[in-house]
Amino acid sequence: MRKVVFAVLCSFLFILVVVIDINQGYTHFRDSNDIRSATKRKGTTSSASSQKKPLIIYFSRSGTNYPNVHLKIGHTKQLAMFISDKTHGDQYEIVPAKPYPKNYQRTVDQAQREQQNNLRPSIKGKLHDVSKYRTIFIGYPIWWNEPPMIVRTFMDHENLNGKTIIPFSTNEGSGWGDSLQIIKRYYPQSHFLKGFSVTGSAVDNDHSRVNRWLAKLGY
Ligand SMILES: Cc1cc2nc3c(=O)[nH]c(=O)nc-3n(C[C@H](O)[C@H](O)[C@H](O)COP(=O)(O)O)c2cc1C
Repeated sequence: MRKVVFAVLCSFLFILVVVIDINQGYTHFRDSNDIRSATKRKGTTSSASSQKKPLIIYFSRSGTNYPNVHLKIGHTKQLAMFISDKTHGDQYEIVPAKPYPKNYQRTVDQAQREQQNNLRPSIKGKLHDVSKYRTIFIGYPIWWNEPPMIVRTFMDHENLNGKTIIPFSTNEGSGWGDSLQIIKRYYPQSHFLKGFSVTGSAVDNDHSRVNRWLAKLGY
């Protein structure tokens, strides 16, 4: 009799273990963020170090720019490179499938048309896998008081909710413009840290401000 009770108990335990296992394997996730947080909890994809390493995402344009300078490397890209160097972060540049004109005024006109018509210019190549990063720096120039529309193309496709976001931007007088509100609206469940905004033409004059900002963020 004891043997029978023992066998029944063992079978019960076995079934219990199998059921728990099946449930874990077939969890129905609501969206990709849930998958990411679940894999993080299990520790299967991200090492601690890759989660610490930030990703620096940015858009920048080279060519003639205000005030009539020719830029081999755009202002925002210069800043992005500096940030990546200081933070040891990875970089992802949002590159337009069709480059913007080198001519400043033609770009200004095109950007205005894109904004007025709420267009989404295409991005060249594959988007970067953002899943393994907890902290994302996102940088852009101010175009017509907002981030360029191609940054919206990126944000339409990449869900950064749940991550820590640190914006940075270059401009020629508008400061942040409306850009912070726009980005925050895209990612209401993200944690935003203090960003950095600088006059583009002064971006490489003095690194002490950017250094102080990064130091306050812990880099
Ligand atoms: C299409 C376009 C629109 C711009 N609109 C603004 C603006 O509304 N306010 C402002 O302060 N600067 C404006 N600028 C200046 C840029 O924000 C500034 O030059 C920035 O540093 C350029 O960055 P980049 O070299 O990384 O592209 C504009 C520049 C361009 C090309």
